[in-house]
Amino acid sequence: MRVPRRIRLTVAVVAAVAVLAPLVWLWWDSRLSSAYSVMDMGVIDAGGRPPHGHAPHGAGRSVTSLIADPDRPADVSVTLVARKQRAGRAAYTINGSSPGPVVRAVQGQLVQVRLENESVPAGVTLHWHGVDVPGAEDGVAGVTQDAVPVGGEHVYRFVADQAGTFWYHSHQISHEQVEKGLFGALVITPRGSPPGPDVVAVSHVFGGVRTVNGVAGDLHVGAQPGQHVRVRVVNTDNGLTAAWVGGSPFRLLAIDGTDLTGPTQVRDAAVLVTAGGRVDLEIVVPSTPTRVHLGGPTGVVLGDGTPTPVARPAAVLDPLTYGTPAALPFDPQAADRVFRYEIGRRPGFIDGKPGLFWTINGRLYPDIPMFTVAVGDIVRMTIVNRSGEAHPMHLHGHHAVVLARDGVPATGAPWWVDSLEVDNGQTVEVAFAADNPGIWADHCHNLPHAAEGLVAHLMYEGVTTPFTIGGGNHPE
Ligand code: C2O
Ligand code: CU
Repeated sequence: MRVPRRIRLTVAVVAAVAVLAPLVWLWWDSRLSSAYSVMDMGVIDAGGRPPHGHAPHGAGRSVTSLIADPDRPADVSVTLVARKQRAGRAAYTINGSSPGPVVRAVQGQLVQVRLENESVPAGVTLHWHGVDVPGAEDGVAGVTQDAVPVGGEHVYRFVADQAGTFWYHSHQISHEQVEKGLFGALVITPRGSPPGPDVVAVSHVFGGVRTVNGVAGDLHVGAQPGQHVRVRVVNTDNGLTAAWVGGSPFRLLAIDGTDLTGPTQVRDAAVLVTAGGRVDLEIVVPSTPTRVHLGGPTGVVLGDGTPTPVARPAAVLDPLTYGTPAALPFDPQAADRVFRYEIGRRPGFIDGKPGLFWTINGRLYPDIPMFTVAVGDIVRMTIVNRSGEAHPMHLHGHHAVVLARDGVPATGAPWWVDSLEVDNGQTVEVAFAADNPGIWADHCHNLPHAAEGLVAHLMYEGVTTPFTIGGGNHPE
């Protein structure tokens, strides 16, 4: 039978519309308004509790009110000047170099940092990675502040309560600004006894070149045999890196700014450092020079001379079983909220752009879960990665303890993290106390992934923000 031409044409048009219309709708629906509040993002996930709904704009407590004691004078005052400026391999600098200066404080001191943007056209902020600062001080453009424009400044104040190794970096267009140099280390030493010798080793890849403290090659540190040196490795890069020691055993003293209980001697094993994460290694300097290898071509040499590099050991230290167990400050089994953060990947549109994007619980940014808690809650979260790639997951404002990985319970020292590698196919269970009100990003620290939508937030009931994303604020 011959179908008349007009009918064939009509059928073809109807079929095309049927296929295209949903796509056009998805495209249209994915476009973001020019400025939007994180408070309107996504769907509330109350972790098994009855949801209270989004806090109405203007009601509740503004994130800007969550600050350190305004009457307390600063113990440590630092000015950090951000510039668009070539220095070494960096395209941006802080106080003329990248990394910027190491900010040092003693536990309990009030740290006050004045950030000045001299010449970074897109604006800058500073985020205190791993420090559980008050909500207003978190430095996320569009969530806790506006990006600081050229000629502007912003003052951050927080009490350095946690002794350990941390870092700071811009959280405005972070996938570009961090990669090109807007970062530095922050070291908080314990109160009381004077700290022993330490070495800060910031590991970063600039345009494909691996560096330590901004320089390709080795960092040479004079050290006396018998000295106990704490090497503070900060991974400011987008990818996992490995650290291992040639020429002497070592102990892994801390992960992500938290000391481990009962750290034992390690030989012939590499320590993995998550993107954004830190490890503190203790080396008792032997009579011959020793080298801490950072990813291979760069390292820290302790003592005089140039030791021959050793190959990366096949074995990897597993923090799940390292050190001795100790009591946790809360009972994770008595959690008030239980969340699932499942990472996947699928084609779709984000802000009108088609692509293969990361999903959170099957949803695309910004239509993702808003993990909602109240002060005092104990929270358990299961992070599941079914996305085809590894993700270094970073929760702002809190430290979480790892309970289990792929169903295997943690049996070593309590493993507190702010940055946690979740490999493809892995399931990791963590717990934390919701004791720091604010609006906190919980995102992948492979920063291009964050820019591709792998960002959710932990929201405290009743906390609001006057800032908006879009316009001049682009946190990722
Ligand atoms: Cu170090 Cu939200 O980042
Ligand atoms: Cu990622």
